[in-house]
Amino acid sequence: MANAPHHDGRAGPPPGAPSQLGTGGRRRLLTGLRPTGRFHLGNFIGTLEKDLELQDDPRFECFFLIADYHALTTYYESSREIGGNIREALLDFLSVGIDPQKSTIYLQSLIPEVAELFLLFTMLVSAPRAQRIPTLKEQVRDLKMESASLGLLNYPVLQAADILMVRGEVVPVGKDQLSHIELTREIARRFNALYGPVFPESEGLVGRIPTLPGTDSGPKMSKSVGNVIYLADDAETVRKRVMAMFTDPTRLRATDPGHVKGNPVFVYHDAFNRDAAEVKELKARYVKGTVGDVEVKRKLVAALNGFLDPIRDRRAAYERQPGLLDDILAEGSRRAREEARETLRLARDAMGLDYFGAARATVEVVGGRA
Ligand code: TRP
Repeated sequence: MANAPHHDGRAGPPPGAPSQLGTGGRRRLLTGLRPTGRFHLGNFIGTLEKDLELQDDPRFECFFLIADYHALTTYYESSREIGGNIREALLDFLSVGIDPQKSTIYLQSLIPEVAELFLLFTMLVSAPRAQRIPTLKEQVRDLKMESASLGLLNYPVLQAADILMVRGEVVPVGKDQLSHIELTREIARRFNALYGPVFPESEGLVGRIPTLPGTDSGPKMSKSVGNVIYLADDAETVRKRVMAMFTDPTRLRATDPGHVKGNPVFVYHDAFNRDAAEVKELKARYVKGTVGDVEVKRKLVAALNGFLDPIRDRRAAYERQPGLLDDILAEGSRRAREEARETLRLARDAMGLDYFGAARATVEVVGGRA
């Protein structure tokens, strides 16, 4: 087989092989966030921390997606607010240190090919399979909907289109998103088995702290619950939020031995305090009952503000240059769209949908949005 004739006589994989085609041998990373308001510390720990690390790893090429159609699945009634939220999401990406010189930041709705790939994928997923996705039931419950719209039901299929459109192999996600990655893998396998190898099997990457608890010690920091600290919060807001945090409910006095495990104040210390020796010492004293909540919290305020200061500075610098923001999103989306066109072409070719090539070309010229 080694010398089997190739499509064009060159050595190498046939068209559409799930190779590192066009990726320069680098593994593709994709992070997507819904523009539904400002990002918080939970978003940072869930995905952005890993993103920043891998953005500087030459083995990875990173894509950052602002998933506005996904926002629409639940915010369709306030669709007019999504535009402002896209700007916030872009500012958040940039302020944490996602660098448009190194990575591609793009807007989902500027890539119409995503919607087309999504449509093709809907054929490969049964309705009961989509209905079994656990996040769907949670959304319907949390948003007190009577039942899911078709858009919401298709949410993870659209996410699969996002991921496979850039042939993403590594997807940093919060734990709750793993069921979506599993569906993405199923779609890729199904497609490849039916039509030929086009898509990689993506992998979800869960961060070092799988879910950050809320400031109310609820299991998850979540905007809808209101137990959040935003990346854009000022120092005084952070101080107030931390000083009001719940700690160990079994501990009544500072001299009582306390629990560190599951105590949100210490989870935050682990996540954001870069002074590991200080954290270790505080934990030891807490367990012995020789440090009060107030001191533990004050140190956390200092650590968090130290962590957030450079983020605030970068945000302020970008806010002064609105034109630059537009350019970054336009340039990233142009780059992502190139990728999307190539992937969609591979997918359509593999499926044998490359009929009426000449007509297609003509229509594209006339009606194209390029
Ligand atoms: N579902 C993701 C979330 O709620 C957002 C998202 C949309 C996404 N498309 C994606 C995440 C593609 C990773 C890859 O956070």
